[in-house]
Order: sequence, then C-alpha cells, then structure tokens
Amino acid sequence: MDNKSKYFEYEKMIKKAYEDLKRAYQEVKESYTEMIFRLALVAEFKDDSTGTHLVRIADFSTEIARGMDLGEKDIDMLKYASPMHDIGKLVVPDAIIKKPSGLTPEEREVIKQHTTMGADIFQGSHSPLLIAAKDIALTHHERYDGTGYPNGMKGEDIPIYGRIVALADVFDALTSVRPYKAAFDFDEAVALIKDQTGKHFDPKVVDAFIARLDNIRRMWQASKDVEAFISEKELNTP
Ligand SMILES: [Fe+2]
Ligand SMILES: [Fe+2]
Repeated sequence: MDNKSKYFEYEKMIKKAYEDLKRAYQEVKESYTEMIFRLALVAEFKDDSTGTHLVRIADFSTEIARGMDLGEKDIDMLKYASPMHDIGKLVVPDAIIKKPSGLTPEEREVIKQHTTMGADIFQGSHSPLLIAAKDIALTHHERYDGTGYPNGMKGEDIPIYGRIVALADVFDALTSVRPYKAAFDFDEAVALIKDQTGKHFDPKVVDAFIARLDNIRRMWQASKDVEAFISEKELNTP
C-alpha cells in the first residue's frame, strides 16, 4: 500500500472511531437522562398524578429559558433537571401526601420538607445536571418577594433555574384539576401569573413566559389532548 492509500485508510479508521464514540456518548446520555426522568416519575406516581405534568414542566421551563435568551447549556439543564423538582416527595409519608384535604399545620410543614429532602438526594454530586436538579428541588417554592419556602430567599438570590421552574410549576398546577379545586382555563391562569409579577415571580421570568406564550399554549394544548386520549382509553378499557 502506498503512502497516500495508507493515509486514506487511517483517515477512514479515525472517522469511524469518532462516529462510534459519538454514538456511544449519545446512548449513554439518552439512558442517563431517561433514568432520571423515570426516577422523577416514581415521585409523581406517589402524588397520584401522571407523567404529563413532568413533560409540561420541562417544556414550559425551556421555553421561558429561550425567552430569557439563556444559552443552549442552560436550556438543556432545565429540560433534564426540572422534572426532578418534586423528587423529595419520595421521602414524605404517603399518609400525608395522599390526604385529600384538611392537612394540619404540622403536616403542611412535613410536605414543605420535600424541598430540602430533594436537595439532600443530590447533595455532594459533581454532575452539573444533578447540581442543577439540587438547586431546583431546593428553590422551586421560593418566591421573588421572599415569602416562599424553605429559606425565604429573595429576588435574584434565588437561582435562575428555581425562579423559572417556580412559574412553570404554578402555571401547570393552576391549569390542572386537583382534588380540592377545578382547573383554570389557559387565559385565566396567565392572568393570575401576571398578577403575581414581582410578588411570587421574577418580572423577567414573567416577561419571558409572556413572550413565548404562543409556543407554550401549543405545548399545553397538545399535552391536554394526550391526557384526554389517555383517560378516554382508560374509560373504555373493561
Ligand atoms: Fe414542589
Ligand atoms: Fe410540580
């Protein structure tokens, strides 16, 4: 084999090794993020809700991040870490989580601990994704005006991921049926979010949410259609 042919042979081998490595990396990333999502699902099932809430949280959070001109790395972090916001519910007793109404003040305090418990689950990780998940678990119930929990953090002291997921989570709760309330329609929920600008929510996060509202409405509608399809199928299953 002359030198030129050898060179082409090496080039082909290097290209193939690179493609193999890229594929292996993609497979590892996919199974890693899928495992994380499935772990988050366990916590959701405990709360008797479906996985569609987690998908919407990821969708809304990434849309808001785009509206705030955050980079692709932050968008990716939010996409994969936001579904884990309530992972701490895994360690809250079922008797409290599944209680339909009439929680005592003590029980309410125990539920609030899902934030610190969630953060404890990820404590000590060096993975940027799990560090983001820890921040989100700990801060998604903080409020911009300092009246949230567990630490009463205020304004931009609350990590940006926590400020974004706070809005996504409340918006989704408002438009969902709960044992103790009916669902608000999309526009009513948007009005309630706007009303909390500078109180519950960071004004910049609200602005980004409004700027991306068309996309969010589309995602929301698609997800509600999936839910309607699932419950219709369940009804018709003997
Ligand atoms: Fe929560
Ligand atoms: Fe949630």
